[in-house]
Amino acid sequence: MPTLSQGQPDKSGPEPHRHRQTAESFGVDAERYDRARPPYPQALVDRIVAASPGRHVLDVGAGTGIEARQFQAAGCTVLGVEPDVRMADFARRSRVEVEVTRFEDWQPAGRQFDAVIAGTAWHWVDPVAGAAKAAQVLRPGDRLAPFHHVPQLPDEVIDALAEALQRVAPDSPFNPGLLRGSTVDAYQPPFAKITDGIRQAGSFSEPEQSRFAWERTASPRHSAARTARTWGRTARPGASGPPGPRMAACGRVSVPRPCCAIPFRGAAAGSTRSRS
Ligand SMILES: C[S@@+](CC[C@H](N)C(=O)[O-])C[C@H]1O[C@@H](n2cnc3c(N)ncnc32)[C@H](O)[C@@H]1O
Repeated sequence: MPTLSQGQPDKSGPEPHRHRQTAESFGVDAERYDRARPPYPQALVDRIVAASPGRHVLDVGAGTGIEARQFQAAGCTVLGVEPDVRMADFARRSRVEVEVTRFEDWQPAGRQFDAVIAGTAWHWVDPVAGAAKAAQVLRPGDRLAPFHHVPQLPDEVIDALAEALQRVAPDSPFNPGLLRGSTVDAYQPPFAKITDGIRQAGSFSEPEQSRFAWERTASPRHSAARTARTWGRTARPGASGPPGPRMAACGRVSVPRPCCAIPFRGAAAGSTRSRS
């Protein structure tokens, strides 16, 4: 998420939710997406379920249903909201109910939920309008809980990504260089935007942040190829050439080490709907 750059971002940083072409591009290969993305840490799911007054969950940016299936397994009923019909179709095939629309445009039609969650998706939603929409479907005491994967990619993976993007997708808005060093630190500006949006919406308690650490043994080659495919299909509006060949070329990035443990953090922001 923090790897989006747009020329020289202003002091407030880039606004990913304005990159609509990228925001709604994940379904180019929904099956591969679902295979490649890890699930979220169980401790994160358990924390959100325990903090919510009931088990009726709205999942914003549900994608292929990765976290929706985890919340279902934890005893929740989950409704997904997802603008990319290719992702939604995959999620529906895995028994997740999904309504196809951007969250900002979604019609609650009087429905209420105990928790609104978003797995690595809230940065694609307008942070203030999204929090205001969430407030409409939550009662006092209910929870808004956006959370994210924060992978700490090895340097050689970052190098391979940078090289591949430069070669085949120089117009991509992603900047792998921002992933060097501590990715948790790199994620702080976008998390600050998320929590500021929740504050500005004015209907929630002060947001708290939590972190959950775990490691995943993965092949850097696989990680680089997966990330490069995601990024290689993206381009600034008006860029020429179809995304498919860029994806394929990015997928051929190579890195020297065959396998290593990639540290992950799950980072969650939680806020309670206050009385209005
Ligand atoms: C990185 S994917 C995360 C998918 C899933 N939650 C996961 O963790 O695997 C981001 C998802 O947000 C969706 N998305 C983008 N803009 C959105 C918006 N304005 N409202 C709701 N979902 C949005 C994308 O289509 C995509 O499926």
